[in-house]
Amino acid sequence: MSNLPNSDDGLDQPLEIAKGIYWVGFADLRGRLQCNPYLIVDGDEAILIDGGSRPDFSTIMRKVLQTGTKPHQISHLIYQHYDPDLCGSIPNIEALIDSPTLKVLSKHENNHFIHHYSVQSPILCIDDLGRTLTMRSGRTLRFFPTPYSHAAGSFVTFDEATGVLFSSDLFGATGAQSSWRLFADLDELCCACDSTPPDDLEAECGPVGVPCPWTLLYNFHREVMPCNTALRHALTVIEKIAPRMIAPQHGSILRSPRDIAEAIRRLGALDVGIDSLMSRSALTL
Ligand SMILES: [Fe+2]
Ligand SMILES: [Fe+2]
Repeated sequence: MSNLPNSDDGLDQPLEIAKGIYWVGFADLRGRLQCNPYLIVDGDEAILIDGGSRPDFSTIMRKVLQTGTKPHQISHLIYQHYDPDLCGSIPNIEALIDSPTLKVLSKHENNHFIHHYSVQSPILCIDDLGRTLTMRSGRTLRFFPTPYSHAAGSFVTFDEATGVLFSSDLFGATGAQSSWRLFADLDELCCACDSTPPDDLEAECGPVGVPCPWTLLYNFHREVMPCNTALRHALTVIEKIAPRMIAPQHGSILRSPRDIAEAIRRLGALDVGIDSLMSRSALTL
């Protein structure tokens, strides 16, 4: 990997998190869910992953342009499911790129919905491409379905060149904008903390006012993932991929083997969605 950043300094600029992979998001201080779009640049071609919502369009495109990428160099827009926080700006991006060769790439279960955002580009399915996309440079992206984590057509994208896995909502985390960090880089205390997942949405640990990163991860998965079976299956898929870095669409990037292993282990023991409601007897008529 190339000059990896050591801290969250410079978040006002696009940040190269691995060779040719740029985080083109921004620290969301408005109290909304933190979103992380990514741009892969190789040679004269670029691919935008989970490009963002309509209100975020101008900021994200400014970041894209700051990488030196020209709009017409973007060949594909990849959407790992169909929610508005990643798809809302599709018509704006299409209009800016304004290229007859631009393609939107997702999975057929998502494409029913993506047709309601996109106005001009062909919308392809990863299954029809053998779940592989090879850039003109030869760089290869592989796609792995993670059904119902959380959408029926959810999938993750693995960049073979760097070992980076774009996990979309998997490994996402809720809010905590004041203490949000681009890289999780959990310390010994955090990794050793063996508390069971608390119900308290604002549970703190360590310094006063700093939310527990595990709680933020638990809360997001409890709310967004529909059931334990789907999440367990997705985690098995990701363990087999064995990524060097996990770049989620929300929350913080995991870049150490220990952080990745701990997150997989803890999420694997969590009740989510309907199973969480059942286990806490929280279902009401
Ligand atoms: Fe989502
Ligand atoms: Fe999301």
